Amino acid sequence: MSERPYIVLSCSMSIDGYLSGATDERLVLSNADDLDRVDAVRAGCDAILVGAATIRRDNPRLLIRSADRRAAREARGCPPSPVKVTMTSGAGLDPCADFFATGDVEKIVYCSSAGLDDAVARLGAVATIVDGGDPIDIGRLAKDLYSRGIARLMVEGGGSVHTQFLTAGLADELQLVVAPFFVGDRRARRFVGDGEFPWNPGTRARLAAVRQIGDVVLLRYALSPRCAAEGVS
Ligand SMILES: NC(=O)c1ccc[n+]([C@@H]2O[C@H](COP(=O)([O-])OP(=O)(O)OC[C@H]3O[C@@H](n4cnc5c(N)ncnc54)[C@H](OP(=O)(O)O)[C@@H]3O)[C@@H](O)[C@H]2O)c1
Repeated sequence: MSERPYIVLSCSMSIDGYLSGATDERLVLSNADDLDRVDAVRAGCDAILVGAATIRRDNPRLLIRSADRRAAREARGCPPSPVKVTMTSGAGLDPCADFFATGDVEKIVYCSSAGLDDAVARLGAVATIVDGGDPIDIGRLAKDLYSRGIARLMVEGGGSVHTQFLTAGLADELQLVVAPFFVGDRRARRFVGDGEFPWNPGTRARLAAVRQIGDVVLLRYALSPRCAAEGVS
């Protein structure tokens, strides 16, 4: 039996592989129907993880939008929205950010050992602070989440976080949405950075499903045998 959660990576990118634009202006990559799909995927997870840079830049709430889905979660004994999880090397997060300030759910911050004291001082009142190692070890983080009852984890970016889960071989499924435009500016953040990925020209990932959602396309890649067991086809 696996000692880590089932891990779903989710993101939307431009045709040329960017997660955002080069400026501070928010880039809309999704559409209303796809946002509703993402809401449903979130509602089926125990926790959602984003990197600290995504919190600083996008200020996400990470709450379930649909009242029906919140009610269905509560009916099965879960909090209305999933636990929120982030990772940081220090205390460069605002305790008033929506990640911390919204939703009656637990917030967990995995922090590098060296920055732990600062993180506890700054964020200890609004989140559970956990020593993630130095640097944070993704495998250890996944095991720790599992020990806290997180059986299904959704990882929503950004690029640094996606790169680490993928290169560590810790992703069971990738849900990749492609928006119908180019960013064309290398200062913007790409879906992933450099690294040794388990899926390469010699070991191709399995494309499990393709779905058009209005003007975007959803590609579902099965990245582990656990994904087949989930019935993704
Ligand atoms: N299109 C989409 O679906 C989507 C989704 C999410 C985000 N985004 C975009 O992605 C961009 C952000 O991506 P990003 O790659 O720059 O950042 P990120 O992955 O969101 O966060 C990176 C930060 O997380 C912390 N971190 C990550 N791994 C760590 C480790 N092993 N040890 C310690 N700390 C660690 C560090 O925080 P500290 O700096 O605090 O140490 C690091 O700077 C934004 O532009 C956002 O808009 C797009």
